[in-house]
Amino acid sequence: SAAEKGGHEYFMLKEIDEQPTALADTLRGHFSDGRIVLDEQRLSDQDLRDVDKVFVVACGSAYHSGLVAKYAIEHWTRLPVEVELASEFRYRDPVLDRDTLVVAVSQSGETADTLEAVRHAREQKARVLAVCNTNGAQIPRESDAVLYTHAGPEIGVASTKAFLAQIAANYLVGLALAQARGTKYPDEVAREFHELAAMPEAVRQVLGTTEQVKALGRELSEAKAVLFLGRHVGYPVALEGALKLKELAYMHAEGFAAGELKHGPIALIEPGLPVVVVMPSPKGRAVLHSKLVSNISEIQARGARTIVIAEEGDETVRPFADELIEIPAVPTLLQPLVSTVPLQVLAAEIARSRGYDVDKPRNLAKSVTVE
Ligand code: G6P
Repeated sequence: SAAEKGGHEYFMLKEIDEQPTALADTLRGHFSDGRIVLDEQRLSDQDLRDVDKVFVVACGSAYHSGLVAKYAIEHWTRLPVEVELASEFRYRDPVLDRDTLVVAVSQSGETADTLEAVRHAREQKARVLAVCNTNGAQIPRESDAVLYTHAGPEIGVASTKAFLAQIAANYLVGLALAQARGTKYPDEVAREFHELAAMPEAVRQVLGTTEQVKALGRELSEAKAVLFLGRHVGYPVALEGALKLKELAYMHAEGFAAGELKHGPIALIEPGLPVVVVMPSPKGRAVLHSKLVSNISEIQARGARTIVIAEEGDETVRPFADELIEIPAVPTLLQPLVSTVPLQVLAAEIARSRGYDVDKPRNLAKSVTVE
């Protein structure tokens, strides 16, 4: 009913709006006196100190949350982090031992490929930490420790609030590792630890772009294809934006690392093609920012319609942005929590204007429990 959807036409739109709460609840559940606590603490600080390699295994959007985690965890801890689709990990011969930490990320906790990856990792004696949104699900039951996301039940098949909560939980894993092991960048880690608590408010702020993004979505509803470009943590955001559009609007969409533009994607640019670009902060990673500005000017010169997600006050991108969507200034590593939100709204609105059921896209299931 409309009441269950909180006055929204679709659960997904309600769940997009619930993201500040989902994030706050996830963070609150794990911060205690400036320390990070897991739910089922069967991993001691000593276990965390012994870790010499991290794998993140997951499927779908959860996999994209893992790609974001790689940037943060490697930087904060200097541990190597590999991120792998659970369905590939399982049938490869991954190098694991008891000092490997495998982080299995799954909203449902029942995804067959992720569960099999967990079993495989445990057979190799690796320690497994589940990041999960469903209390007592199979994946947390079979793991050594759990960090629950507190996004609440997610009805929309395409993940939104659970995805943001997964990103936040993965940051907590990184920060917990940094706390247990020490870090090369104590000031930065302390700052990001602190700023994480302010992210629910930043997400609330970015939801202020919803009407602008919906209007854009209606304009793009007839597009043949949409490309998404990003770098650094903006790259997984680009992949997630493209996945959402495929899932919901059945539109051809692809996410690229912007640095690869000249190695192929630029051949796809033609007049009128919408290209969404996720800009890093001009203050945080200035070099990457200027490289992306030149990417945007190149694609605009070839006639693409540029849709730019950029930090508020970022004046350098303005001349190259046919549409500018402003997001609040946050630390670079945390930016996916805000830059993802307009891409979710965009995909939902394009799907809605094409007449599709946003909550139940064709052929997809909320939880894929067969391989
Ligand atoms: C399905 C859903 C996605 C989700 C993926 C992984 O494909 O449609 O939204 O990201 O499964 O699900 P999990 O429950 O393991 O996070």
